[in-house]
Amino acid sequence: MPLVPRPGIEKAPLYIPGSHSVEGIADPAILSANENPHGASPLAREAYMKAAASMQRYPDGGATELRNAIATRNGLDPDRIVCGAGSDEIITMLTRIFAGPGDEVLYSEHGFLMYPINALQVGATPVKAPETDLRTDVDALLAHVTDKTKIVFVANPNNPTGSYLPTDELRRLANGLPENVLLVIDAAYAEYVVRNDYTAGPDLVDEFPNVVMMRTFSKIYGLAAVRLGWCYAQRPVIDLMNRLRSPFNLSTTAQAAGTAAMQDIAHTEKAIAHNSQWLSYLSEELKKLGIEVPPSVGNFLIAGFGTKETADAAYAFLKQRGVIARQMGGYGLADYIRITIGLEKDCRLCVDILKDFKG
Ligand SMILES: Cc1ncc(COP(=O)(O)O)c(C=O)c1O
Repeated sequence: MPLVPRPGIEKAPLYIPGSHSVEGIADPAILSANENPHGASPLAREAYMKAAASMQRYPDGGATELRNAIATRNGLDPDRIVCGAGSDEIITMLTRIFAGPGDEVLYSEHGFLMYPINALQVGATPVKAPETDLRTDVDALLAHVTDKTKIVFVANPNNPTGSYLPTDELRRLANGLPENVLLVIDAAYAEYVVRNDYTAGPDLVDEFPNVVMMRTFSKIYGLAAVRLGWCYAQRPVIDLMNRLRSPFNLSTTAQAAGTAAMQDIAHTEKAIAHNSQWLSYLSEELKKLGIEVPPSVGNFLIAGFGTKETADAAYAFLKQRGVIARQMGGYGLADYIRITIGLEKDCRLCVDILKDFKG
């Protein structure tokens, strides 16, 4: 008798990460994975190296210092925080807890691909709600809720479109969902948003027992390789997560790096200022070249070339000259490419190459 996997898992596509290398180019500009081009805080690196000295010991399974550091910086209750190996692990935990065969997991048309992948892994059905002008549409999401819906995932801001739901719209979504449907606000890029009408969601978590806010250390904190994410929720959800979580899901080095990174406020402030300046530079320069750039509040933008063929050609042209962007076919946006805001020289190089491409 052959092995029989649980239903659904065989249908889950493999996640294809952004590429980090180009043959023949020693030091390409890696603008494919929305990483922090300035890297991690030096304090985080130092803490990581120091913690490596005790690698023979099991880590603190409760990630106490890390949760305390997150709570202090964000004004939250540490007992209502769970940390994961990347926010990917948080998505996995929440999906495993709340969804299974016969259930539906709802997300926005161009939402982060790990939502449908996780739904399929547990045998649930991923359901897409259409977007309007590349923006999450609250009415469309609410209209797609059925008796089977167990989770709604909303990335705010969304990757890859860069658009965001203002606070009142997010609240309208939370208010409109039945109490037995979990709303996961994935605020992976929250730190980059400089808008008065934006919330990452902790206020909604306090108000609604069925709302969770997810965050990551992979973006502004520059710790993507370390694998560190966290979420904030009311106690019953936290309790379920702690029951499911592996007892030592975070290494000692990851916890130490994350704790130090949380405390280095100057490092993230520098990243925010850099991003605001170069996001606006890149958007404006690309628009001058006749490239469509939907407004983005993240550390990336999507550049529209009208057709898949032209977007593919632009991607290849950039790559050949040492700039790695990201193709967007998997997100239903094949006529766009996504570009992370890199260092000043990367942004300038990107514009110069695209000038030649258009030229
Ligand atoms: C919207 C969103 N959520 C979650 C993640 C996962 O991040 P990580 O698992 O590295 O924390 C990403 C990574 O690209 C993302 O764009």
